[in-house]
Amino acid sequence: MNEKLIAAKKATEFIKAGMTIGLGTGSTVAFLIKELAGKVNAGLDITAVSTSSSTTQIASSLGIDFTNLSDVTKIDLTIDGADEVDEDLNGIKGGGGALLFEKIVAKNSEKNIWIVDSSKLVRKLGKFPLPVEVIKFGSDQLFNTFSTLNYNPHFRMKDGEKYITDSDHYIIDLYLKTIDDAFETDRRLKLQTGVVETGLFCGIADMVIAGKYDRTEILQKKRDQISI
Ligand code: 5RP
Repeated sequence: MNEKLIAAKKATEFIKAGMTIGLGTGSTVAFLIKELAGKVNAGLDITAVSTSSSTTQIASSLGIDFTNLSDVTKIDLTIDGADEVDEDLNGIKGGGGALLFEKIVAKNSEKNIWIVDSSKLVRKLGKFPLPVEVIKFGSDQLFNTFSTLNYNPHFRMKDGEKYITDSDHYIIDLYLKTIDDAFETDRRLKLQTGVVETGLFCGIADMVIAGKYDRTEILQKKRDQISI
């Protein structure tokens, strides 16, 4: 069974009529969007807010309309993917390059659920390269600073060019191997001039739904864990 699909299906159970829903980005969320589109086309009334141009494109093509973030008074629930999640539900996101909008939408949501396959659950963050979104001006200098700090930086590339985010920034991926203190790492990186946002999402997820074989494992903020 596809663990991403199983997690996505489970997450749709938390979407109720009348809710404003933030839709994350990535292949797991793409499964969610397909499931949700079926319900919306069958009459489920929701307001949706997008976190990326790719999500807007996929969901719109399936019949889900979006409302601008500035036009909603609140977001009841955001469902997003993640690249790594630790036991305290801190995570690395941004593998799909949408970390900035994802974090803005998440921080403005009353509840955040992440949907992942079981390979994303880790004891310690950092094996997945940490994406840092930076403004273009001075990005080579910032890259050199990261090198000096032994952060092992790599500009994200796409089709032989530097990858450009929806906000017209670059992404520098940091190959840190292990992150001992995610909150402190996030804080330190953000002190660097030119850093717009990091892919460290600390204290944001309320619940993680992980597909595991043909079941889902639900992890909640208080470390409670139940199998359904
Ligand atoms: C995009 C993200 C994604 O949620 C993350 O990369 C997980 O992607 P996938 O569901 O394809 O494994 O943070 O910026």
